[in-house]
Amino acid sequence: MLKRTILMNGSKVTFVADAAEKLSDVIRKQLGLTGTKVGCGSGECGSCTVILNGKVVRSCITKMKKIKDNDEIITIEGVGSKDELHPLQVAWMVYGGAQCGFCSPGFIVSAKNLLDKNDNPTREEVRDWFQKNKNVCRCTGYKPLVDAVMAAAQLLRGEIEVKDIWKSLPEGASIVGSDYVRPSALAKVTGTWDFGADLGLKLPENTLHAKLVQAEVSHANIISIDTEEAKKVPGVVAVLTYKDVKGTNRINGLAFPTNKGDGLERPILNDKKIFQYGDAIAIVLAENEKAAHAGVEKVKVELEVLPAYMNAPDAMADDAIEIHPGTPNVYFNNHISKGEETSPIMQSAPYVVEDSFYTQRQPHLPIEPDVGFAYVDDDGKLIIHSKSIAIHFHALMIAEGVGMKAEDVYIVQNNTGATFGYKFSPTMEGLLGVATMATGRPVYLEFNMKQQITYTGKRSPFWTTMKLAANEDGKILALESDWSVDHGPYSEFGDLLTQRGMQFGCAGYGIPNIRGNGRTVCTNHGWGSAFRGYGAPEIMFPSEVLIDELAEKVGMDPFEFRYKNIYREGDTTPSGCKPDVYCLEELFDKSRPAYEAAKKRAAQKNANALPGKKYGVGVSVNIYGCGLDGPDSSEAWAEITPKGVSVGNSWEDHGQGADIGTLTFAHETLKPLNLKPEQIDLVLNDMTKTPNSGPAGGSRSNVVTGNATVVACQNLLESLKKEDGTYRTYEEMVAEGRELKYMGKWTAPCTDTPPEHGQGDPFAAYMYGVCVAEVEVDTASGKTNVEKMLLASDVGTIINRLVVDGQMYGGLVQGIGLALTEDFDDLRKHTTLTGCGIPTIKDVPDSLELMYTEYQRPNSLLGASGAGEMPLAAPHAAIINAIYNACGARVTHLPARPEKVLAALAD
Ligand code: FES
Ligand code: FES
Repeated sequence: MLKRTILMNGSKVTFVADAAEKLSDVIRKQLGLTGTKVGCGSGECGSCTVILNGKVVRSCITKMKKIKDNDEIITIEGVGSKDELHPLQVAWMVYGGAQCGFCSPGFIVSAKNLLDKNDNPTREEVRDWFQKNKNVCRCTGYKPLVDAVMAAAQLLRGEIEVKDIWKSLPEGASIVGSDYVRPSALAKVTGTWDFGADLGLKLPENTLHAKLVQAEVSHANIISIDTEEAKKVPGVVAVLTYKDVKGTNRINGLAFPTNKGDGLERPILNDKKIFQYGDAIAIVLAENEKAAHAGVEKVKVELEVLPAYMNAPDAMADDAIEIHPGTPNVYFNNHISKGEETSPIMQSAPYVVEDSFYTQRQPHLPIEPDVGFAYVDDDGKLIIHSKSIAIHFHALMIAEGVGMKAEDVYIVQNNTGATFGYKFSPTMEGLLGVATMATGRPVYLEFNMKQQITYTGKRSPFWTTMKLAANEDGKILALESDWSVDHGPYSEFGDLLTQRGMQFGCAGYGIPNIRGNGRTVCTNHGWGSAFRGYGAPEIMFPSEVLIDELAEKVGMDPFEFRYKNIYREGDTTPSGCKPDVYCLEELFDKSRPAYEAAKKRAAQKNANALPGKKYGVGVSVNIYGCGLDGPDSSEAWAEITPKGVSVGNSWEDHGQGADIGTLTFAHETLKPLNLKPEQIDLVLNDMTKTPNSGPAGGSRSNVVTGNATVVACQNLLESLKKEDGTYRTYEEMVAEGRELKYMGKWTAPCTDTPPEHGQGDPFAAYMYGVCVAEVEVDTASGKTNVEKMLLASDVGTIINRLVVDGQMYGGLVQGIGLALTEDFDDLRKHTTLTGCGIPTIKDVPDSLELMYTEYQRPNSLLGASGAGEMPLAAPHAAIINAIYNACGARVTHLPARPEKVLAALAD
């Protein structure tokens, strides 16, 4: 133990701590300064950055023994507060620097140290600084962060004032399409936005700390689990196995009727078998974290290790055993049939191309690892707080498993340090429920980054073969495809994902004749959960690369070949329905000058290149649908209050901006009341208060929940309206005894695409984009550097410009990771952010250009589609096409790490 007196944010503080303790833990847990966040816990992400004696340090790898008396530490709380913001905090809000906001305190503290030393840095110096100090952001694509630092530097130098960048809203103005700052931004940039781990420090004293005993093999029979020694560890209160689960111990995966399994194969605590590395075998519950860890070490598990099928082809082999006995490893099939039979066309067409592709098990890599807690409230209801982005779904999926009626389980979404979709599946909700039900005490569980990466779901790899035919004029005549989806051992939403292979294979092009077969395969690698784009990046990669191959065969420029074939009046989607709008032609026209300029740049660079350096340009069409398939619906409410209006919905927030989304839909609809945005109170994502708005996935929220919010506000307005056209006040409503709260429900006028033929009208709206990527390839090392990207998008009405820009930047950068570096395959290597290939700031270009058209979406009450998933639908294909354009290396299996580029070059 050591005693220290230090200067913390300018005030003297004395404390006693263990010399081996991490500085981050002391700051957060002993000194209560929770603005400093802990993401990776191992020095890779910079979310724990503080300034120690004038230098940036990562507090999670700084041990207390290094701290001396009189040391000076500055945390985010010392940079500025809500009443006295530092220019960096202002700029962070104005430039959309805080999406989920988990990285924001670390970045801002780091940037403060830079600006303290140099108040006039170049953009490249800012990027170098964040690279050197390992500040990593998974949401923003980095560009807005550099914009914010540059503006803050200008503010500090006195060249501009806050009012120059933070425009005040004119009286009565609409905020639709504006860059109105999201309501949560202030708390995020000041470190006062409490995430799950911060709330965990505020739980009652009798809260138990949970740690898991997890599998370290991928497939095994469980022979025995011995918990006796663990129970004897001082501080351990209980050690739970499947035997202690009060319910069915199964998560309901909501399987399609044609799924050959029942969707109940996923245990909460594994009982008979281990299905994947990281499966939870036991929960140790203790009075403190250390005791829980010690207990985990003492649990003995005896296993009979079985052959592990770590990819779809292996699990589909004739001699593969059934991973879930009784259910075939190929457990779901679908078939698309549009137009005429394709085989005669393939035989007679003048131009035919065929290729095989692989998209990898992309890890989501949120900077905040999974975290949650649970308790039983005074009415006997089980309340679970987690990062869930599907709170009503998840209550339904775990209730029977933990031994509760669905109506007695309530989920609350904590402020969330991003999910990108992995939380569409329940992760720890079932475990927390089991632990609380078994002990009757509140339980807290947090994952470290390795657990986050190995336990939670991943993007499912697709193994795809695709064939395209075109006529003499370069018009595409037919598509044939075959895709196998490696969904890991658990089926939940795997059938839905496989459907996406039908819906987005060569989407964007008016192809009259399509045949294809998809299947979902059970394997022993990480289970498949939703990931931004959900099926589109997997199937649009083959599509968009094969389109390039066909363009080459026809002898056309890939941009113009696409232009010739994109949706126009009379064309239909792969599902056989009319696209909601025909905007692609204008998007191409708008981006053509940039494409031509990019080609010219590449030609000039190639002419003057150093030996081994090659430059190229690639294009892709990006498309995704908004909504869960068919008649997707959502609910919201609006209530008149003495201060204005409260609006409630369950628009779960990964960090994408559910707060500003809800606010904007409500503010616009309630315009007749002339409310200021701050008079609208948001009540979000708490099943005890908010209605079933469905999950925040499939880019549905901005359409389906946006519409439900509009309807709720319209219903309120209707009741407020007097005969003379004016509106009742709250007091008048009370005096007249009128209802104060009104529900709104909206259902998409859509139909399913049955797995037998894939034809229907599945989505309320679509999002469209054209992406142009410019790359440099080092043909000696195989390394690719993305130098510039452009995304021309149409997402209908832009509800909030900052949010939409932020989604575009973030999606493009995740596309760079998908193209070049990211994977979760090797269970020894791919267990850290770096090991999984997360892009750092210098891995991505500062030159990310956005342009928009705004075709009004007929099904959206404000004309908007979603935004989040389209930018990740196919930017990786544009990059891969650019590599080919640069050096002739055609990479078809992702990621295109240097060795694959070299191998493709050798081919
Ligand atoms: S670097 Fe400290 S939490 Fe990631
Ligand atoms: S805003 Fe940077 S990680 Fe989410």
